[in-house]
Amino acid sequence: MNRDSDNGQALLDPSQSASVLTQVAALVGSELRDVDEIFREELRSPRQCVSDVLQHVTRFQGKRLRPILVLVTADACGGVRHAHKVLGAVVEMIHMATLVHDDVLDDADTRRHVATVNSRWSNETSVLFGDYLFTHAFHLASSLETAHACRVIGRATNLVCEGELSQVHERGNLDLTEDEYLQIITGKTAELCAVSCYLGAHYAGMDETVSRSLEQYGRSLGIAFQIADDILDLMGNEAKTGKTLGSDIEKQKLTLPLIRLLDQSPPEQASAIRALLSHPEAATRRALQRYLDASDALEYADERARHFVNDARRHLACLPDSPARRLLDQIAEFSIRRKF
Ligand code: IPE
Ligand code: IPE
Ligand code: MG
Ligand code: MG
Repeated sequence: MNRDSDNGQALLDPSQSASVLTQVAALVGSELRDVDEIFREELRSPRQCVSDVLQHVTRFQGKRLRPILVLVTADACGGVRHAHKVLGAVVEMIHMATLVHDDVLDDADTRRHVATVNSRWSNETSVLFGDYLFTHAFHLASSLETAHACRVIGRATNLVCEGELSQVHERGNLDLTEDEYLQIITGKTAELCAVSCYLGAHYAGMDETVSRSLEQYGRSLGIAFQIADDILDLMGNEAKTGKTLGSDIEKQKLTLPLIRLLDQSPPEQASAIRALLSHPEAATRRALQRYLDASDALEYADERARHFVNDARRHLACLPDSPARRLLDQIAEFSIRRKF
């Protein structure tokens, strides 16, 4: 596998990710701008202390993967309606709430190339601002005609929180299995991608069978996305990702490459790696990178991510061919080839 010499991360063909983003802009660019507008309108506050934080977190946008999934799925299922734009804003708010809270859990100081809320303000502000985002998400979702969206988004968010709670519970467990890891990331990351696609299909008028198939596309894509993110946490470059890396090691969260590395190491080496992981310090990431580079662990994690991308793509078979369906195919691919 071709990897960057400086940081060992799998190479992303920049023209390919640029082309996915260009195609997203061409297909749903104006709808995405409407999502941004709904997002800003819902969160607007007359209180300076709220609008300061809001301005800070909205000035630098992320990839907006979840609203993109809502909109492109909707397009592939017959067309984007107003409800999809509202839902796009809702899922981005929930995503952002989890990030603001996650940066407290991870003690992270950089997100989207700027200071995190916890480092610029405080943990207290982050906890409350994250709550503000969650409550606005449900307030906004309740503006839709039926309670269906609120219900399914509520359920997905319950699973996200369960995933995060399991992750905290498993901190320091150096015997975490691949199945346990997959359960955690399915909850904390994949469910929100799954519900984004489900809602895209459902609110475009698709029947339950098609909507559930799209939901599974989103879930498998989300699992692959988090595996790729976990590889970046170990091997990626902070200048490219724009966020604090290495926090999985620092917080003793075992991720797939390390699970595989421990599993494949001879007993003496496994003990040495466990000793490193039990007392993380500044040099630990470099030391682990050397073990990872000498093993099949990164290739294995890439292969597992690839498996979930293929699974995601299979679930698109229920849709007729269209530019939007082809874009969903490429977004699945992008989820593991990205460097940011
Ligand atoms: C980061 O998500 C958290 C994970 C689930 C890995 P994104 O990588 O989608 O974050 P932004 O929104 O683009 O910043
Ligand atoms: C957090 O996972 C995912 C969430 C659902 C919040 P990470 O801790 O890996 O996310 P990053 O790397 O900080 O973006
Ligand atoms: Mg984090
Ligand atoms: Mg991460």
